[in-house]
Amino acid sequence: MTGKRLFFGLGLSSQAEQAIDDWLHTAVQSKRALVKKTNLHLTLAFLAEVDSEREHELVCFAEQIEFTPFSLTFSATGYWPHNGIFYLKPDESPEPLLSLANKLRDKGEALGLYHNQLPYSPHITLLRRAKPEPLVSRPFGPLTVRFDRFSLYHSHSTDEGLRYDPLKTFLATN
Ligand code: 2AM
Repeated sequence: MTGKRLFFGLGLSSQAEQAIDDWLHTAVQSKRALVKKTNLHLTLAFLAEVDSEREHELVCFAEQIEFTPFSLTFSATGYWPHNGIFYLKPDESPEPLLSLANKLRDKGEALGLYHNQLPYSPHITLLRRAKPEPLVSRPFGPLTVRFDRFSLYHSHSTDEGLRYDPLKTFLATN
């Protein structure tokens, strides 16, 4: 299929990006390149390659989702040895987050875009293919971030590296 590589995600404020980036540069040791500050985000639903017709369907679907704002507090890291992903995980996963992510994941599956093999596991990827697990000299946070919107992102390569550009943003209902 020719199309755009898309995902639904939650962006971070520039203050949150900066706090994470500062900590990464001063407290985490790894040989791998860190995820760029402006690329830090939480994926809600990965969609893989999407044609323009299905992109339109995704936008229409997302526009009619009602969700309430929620906050996430980050104070812990995690590591998946099979892919070397080192990440921040929220201390709690509130129902509005899980419900939003599951609706979007289910829609992607119903459109035949991407089959999720594992339950939703919210995280902010900090490093990929980091083996062994990065050493952390000082714990992160806690940092509390409020989310009142989500976006459909276009993941694409540029001369400056990978970029995630929001194509469309959807606001919470209250
Ligand atoms: P991540 O949330 O673990 O970082 C854009 O590529 C986003 O979609 C990335 O943030 C990435 O994961 C997620 N993503 C990329 N490929 C994926 C895949 N095969 N399965 C699930 N999520 C994927």
